Amino acid sequence: MSSAESTWSPGSWRDKPAVQQPDWPDEAALEAVLKQMRTMPPLVFAGEARALTESLGHVANGEAFLLQAGDCAESFEAFSADAIRDKLKVILQMAVVLTYSSGVPTVKVGRIAGQFAKPRSSPTETVGDLVLPSFRGHMVNDVAPTEAARVPDPNRLLSAYHQSSSTLNLLRAFTKGGYADLARVHTWNQEFVASSNEGQRYEQLASEIDRALRFMKACGINTTSLPTLHEVDFFTSHEALVLGYEEAMTRRDSLTGDWYDCSAHMIWIGERTRDLDGAHVEFFSGVNNPVGCKVGPTATADEVLGLCERLNPDRIPGRLTLITRMGADKIEAGLPPLLAAVRDAGHPVVWACDPMHGNTFTANGGHKTRRFDDILAEIAGFFAAHDAEGTWPGGVHVELTGDDVTECLGGAEEILDTDLASRYETMCDPRLNGRQSVDLAFAVSELLRR
Ligand code: TRP
Ligand code: MN
Repeated sequence: MSSAESTWSPGSWRDKPAVQQPDWPDEAALEAVLKQMRTMPPLVFAGEARALTESLGHVANGEAFLLQAGDCAESFEAFSADAIRDKLKVILQMAVVLTYSSGVPTVKVGRIAGQFAKPRSSPTETVGDLVLPSFRGHMVNDVAPTEAARVPDPNRLLSAYHQSSSTLNLLRAFTKGGYADLARVHTWNQEFVASSNEGQRYEQLASEIDRALRFMKACGINTTSLPTLHEVDFFTSHEALVLGYEEAMTRRDSLTGDWYDCSAHMIWIGERTRDLDGAHVEFFSGVNNPVGCKVGPTATADEVLGLCERLNPDRIPGRLTLITRMGADKIEAGLPPLLAAVRDAGHPVVWACDPMHGNTFTANGGHKTRRFDDILAEIAGFFAAHDAEGTWPGGVHVELTGDDVTECLGGAEEILDTDLASRYETMCDPRLNGRQSVDLAFAVSELLRR
């Protein structure tokens, strides 16, 4: 990247203040792991990251929509083919609803195959009368409430790599091997979703797609020979928090000579680590993947413009996605000035709405939760703000699972705070379940259609 070229290297972040990094107890053990990681095969190919930049460029131009979705934090324990398949299923359902109802292509990006590290508001956490180091994601330590479990273990970096690798392998198999075929649109509707109102609505839409496919065939179009009907491009992303890991996965592309963080197609910077002079922005400024940055309610227009300059000095459409996470009550006032500033500066960005993280609270029973209505309200506020500023509401970024959990309140099935305990399975933030996710996709597609 032009200006940073001379001084940037995959390790140049080490000269900057790096917040939210694990306190590794044994430097030598960490170094041994990172050395090994530097020799391991990349998880993604630079050409794929470039393809995603290009697709996101269409989003930046107002010609496509971004759906970025997955777990808050992936788990080493809840790791199975079924869990990966069910998450993919619900994302495919949402994508099909968005694409069919809005008539706009949907760029599909999972928070998956690498989402193992979590920033924390405090380095310690009180459990009962114990003060423990905070859980920082399975890439770093374990969630169990004991001193021993919370000690950062560098071998977890290797486990994260291997789990990412097998997750990505299965995702590639499913998305290119027939599972994501539009002819299978009915089969993605899981039992517990299908029995609900939104599931019925989905069934109807799926039948319309069947009819459209039959119509194409009847018109003489050879639908079997069109790969686009049978496959999807599905990309991976995570918050690139633990910089040692990301540095070790960074490789020079043999075709272009450019640097890519080959741990995922897209990586993002969190709200807590987006300091312009910090280590994360430094690292991100030199890799050529498409990158995201979270933007919270306290972000100023100057900060956001600074991020645009640092992260996308060459103004490449699709290179930078700004993911706003304001809170339903703050977006109306907070977002428009940022949209106007970026628009007036002529920076091509993708604006995506994370309606989850600004709407989290602790319910009576002690569970962290979110109201489905607040999530929808923030998305509606996001669309209204873009409408007012003449900018494109490029996408949504949500936390969901394919499982039938009770973690977010409300939705058509009316999950109450007294229900939360029944299937509250997240290791971190509350996620939308399958029904709530499909419901959300219909709501977003209605906003898109307007
Ligand atoms: N390949 C096209 C797309 O990605 C159409 C498609 C095939 C599709 N399978 C899908 C769309 C599943 C959404 C979900 O848009
Ligand atoms: Mn989260």
